[in-house]
Amino acid sequence: MKNILITGGAGFIGSHVVRQFVNQYTDYQIINLDKLTYAGNLANLTDVQDAPNYKFVKGDITDAAFIDGLFQEFDFSGVVHLAAESHVDRSISDPMAFVITNVIGTVNLLNAARQAWKGSFEGRRFYHVSTDEVYGELHDPTEFFVETTKYDPRSPYSASKASSDHFVRAYHNTYGLPVVISNCSNNYGPNHFPEKLIPLMIHNIQQNKPLPVYGKGENVRDWLFVEDHAKAIDLIFHEGTNGDTYNIGGCNEWQNLTLVKFLCQLMDQKLGRTAGTSEQLITYVTDRAGHDLRYAIDPAKLMNELGWKPSVTFEQGLEKTVDWYLAHQEWLNDVTSGQYQRYYDSMYEGR
Ligand code: NAD
Ligand code: TYD
Repeated sequence: MKNILITGGAGFIGSHVVRQFVNQYTDYQIINLDKLTYAGNLANLTDVQDAPNYKFVKGDITDAAFIDGLFQEFDFSGVVHLAAESHVDRSISDPMAFVITNVIGTVNLLNAARQAWKGSFEGRRFYHVSTDEVYGELHDPTEFFVETTKYDPRSPYSASKASSDHFVRAYHNTYGLPVVISNCSNNYGPNHFPEKLIPLMIHNIQQNKPLPVYGKGENVRDWLFVEDHAKAIDLIFHEGTNGDTYNIGGCNEWQNLTLVKFLCQLMDQKLGRTAGTSEQLITYVTDRAGHDLRYAIDPAKLMNELGWKPSVTFEQGLEKTVDWYLAHQEWLNDVTSGQYQRYYDSMYEGR
């Protein structure tokens, strides 16, 4: 039985990665380490929580002594590191929280792996999950991010992720730590916290609340269904080359305003509203500071070298997502109440 550590497994993408690994690999013991911040929710994992090859550990990646102890206790063969502060708007209000979790937390994990594996790296792997936002923004519509695109992070969030990527590569170059990194585009799907664009809009449409579109809604994002990201991580973890980087993306670019209008049409159908009703909720609000114009991934390396491709179209993935939210009202009520609700209200005050 191999012990595999997944960090941030109670969050949005992490919960799909945990499910993918627990269900696919019964010869692995999956240890899900999560601090359960506002973004971590064990309700995301009720279907696997009793699996014999799954264990949850509550803990903080910024606590070096605790992380060292965990590596001693479990003798991990592999690490899939997703724990992070992940929301750009929060990074604008509180950059230091992103430095502490995303940079120091990652370096703690690298140190612990290096110590525990003591130069004998056979059969070990440290997988760092990163974002396309480290590459900055694109203006020329014919350009795409490739693995060799120069880093140019422009938000505190992307700067913290870029820094963690650099540390992962530095540990590979300096100590020979067997690492692999992937940089993925925007994910969407079930269990997505409703502070990010798609789940926020689904929630607000349902509640007849304003739909806050930043600026003119001209910014472009490249959307990938979260289960396809989890499958790509599985593939790269098992078949990727040590020291390499893989870009993951759905070749699925949408301007924010077009996407929100499309979602409104879909929700009108699902909620039995007259066509055009939900679109009236669109409200243009002050733009995000330093708002990156366009992200677009070229996933050719992952497709050609490892044979990955997305399994659903955006239309299919979005319909699955909307259906999931409509069927999981309790999940949505839970995460939009209490402590989070107070934060959410102050953040979007006046929008
Ligand atoms: P998320 O915010 O939904 O989940 C993050 C998880 O990390 C939560 O469960 C939280 O409790 C946990 N966590 C936070 N701080 C921790 C700490 N100090 N110790 C232990 N656990 C801690 O994030 P997500 O959207 O699922 O993103 C997961 C990873 O994927 C992140 O590294 C993010 O940068 C990356 N990523 C996200 C996207 C996207 O579109 N969401 C795209 C590409 C890459
Ligand atoms: P977001 O989901 O926060 O992801 P990221 O900033 O990491 O790409 O935002 C996606 C896009 O949607 C981004 O261009 C900002 C925009 N946006 C809005 O217009 N309104 C909103 O309420 C939110 C949360 C985002």
